[in-house]
Amino acid sequence: MSKPKIFVTRLIPEKGLEILREFCDVNVWLHELPPTRDELLQHVRGIDGLLCLLTEKIDGEVMDEAGSQLKVISNLAVGFDNIDVPAATARRIPIGNTPDVLTDATADFAFALMMAVARRINEGERYIRDGKWKTWGPMTLLGVDIRGATLGLVGFGRIGKAVAQRALGFDMRVIYYDPKEKKAYPDLKATQVDFETLLEEADFISLHTPLTPDTRHLIDAEALSKMKPNAVLLNTARGPIVDLDALYEALKEHRIFGAGLDVTEPEPLPLDSPLLTLENVVIAPHIASASRTSRDQMSWMAAQNLIAGLKGERLPNCVNPQVYSQK
Ligand code: GLV
Repeated sequence: MSKPKIFVTRLIPEKGLEILREFCDVNVWLHELPPTRDELLQHVRGIDGLLCLLTEKIDGEVMDEAGSQLKVISNLAVGFDNIDVPAATARRIPIGNTPDVLTDATADFAFALMMAVARRINEGERYIRDGKWKTWGPMTLLGVDIRGATLGLVGFGRIGKAVAQRALGFDMRVIYYDPKEKKAYPDLKATQVDFETLLEEADFISLHTPLTPDTRHLIDAEALSKMKPNAVLLNTARGPIVDLDALYEALKEHRIFGAGLDVTEPEPLPLDSPLLTLENVVIAPHIASASRTSRDQMSWMAAQNLIAGLKGERLPNCVNPQVYSQK
C-alpha cells in the first residue's frame, strides 16, 4: 500500500522528521524562506497531511487546493492564528498544535527580555562597540529594578503562569488579567485584576495571550498612556497585539521606560522601521521557543499530531475538537 503523502513547509528538527519518513511519503520544503502563496498552493495539491509553520497562512483556498483527501493540518507552534480554524472545521479537518513543550523556553525568554530591557544590556553592548566606554560611571546606563517590582501578566495560561513562577524568585508582586481564568492560584501568589488596573500598576507588562480579534492592538495608544513612566512592555505572544506605531511614539517620548519584543507586526520587521532607531527597545526575531529541546519536542509533537490525523485517530493536541462531534 502506498504511504500517505505529506508536505512539510520547512526543514524541521530530525526528531519529528524521522517518524514522518517511516509512515509517510514526505516532501519537505528545503529553502530558507517559506514557500510563496503560489508555491504553497502548488505543493499542497493531492496531499493527505500538511505540516506547516506560523509563516504560512492556511485558509480555505489552501485546503481546497489540497483536495478533499486532506485529513490533517499540523502546525509547528502553539499559536494557530495563521490557520483559518472555522474553514478547517467546516471541512472536518482537525488541526494540531504544540502546547506545553515550549512553555518554559518562552517563559525564560520573556524573563531574558525583561532583564535585557530593565538593565539596558543591549544598549550597553552598543555603547562598547561604538567606542563610548571611557570609564566606570556612577550614572552610566542606569536601569530599573526587577526585584520587588510589580509584574502584570496579560493572559494567565500555561506561559503566563510559568512567567509568574519565575517571578517568585525575584520577589515580584504578580498581577494578571485574563477574562478566561476563574481559579485562584495561591501557590503563584498572583492576583487577578482588571485590564485598567494592570496597566496602571504594573512595572513590567508581559503579554501571553493568543492573537484574536479581541486582542489585536490590545496595547494601543490609550493603553500605553495608562502605563507608568517606568513601565516596560514585553511581547513574546504575537506581534499584532501591540500597535507598533503607538509604541514607537511612547518609547520615543520616554512615556514608558522601554520594551522588549520577540514578535512584531509585520515579521520580519522592516529594516527601516523607526523602532530600530530607538535605544530603549530590545527586539528579537521571534525566537522565544527556539531552545534545542523545545524545538525538538515541537517537531516530535507536530509529527505525532500529523500521524494520528492520517490514521483517522484523535490528534493528541487538537485545536478544533468539534470535528470529532460533527455528524
Ligand atoms: C510560537 O510563536 C508559537 O506559537 O509556538
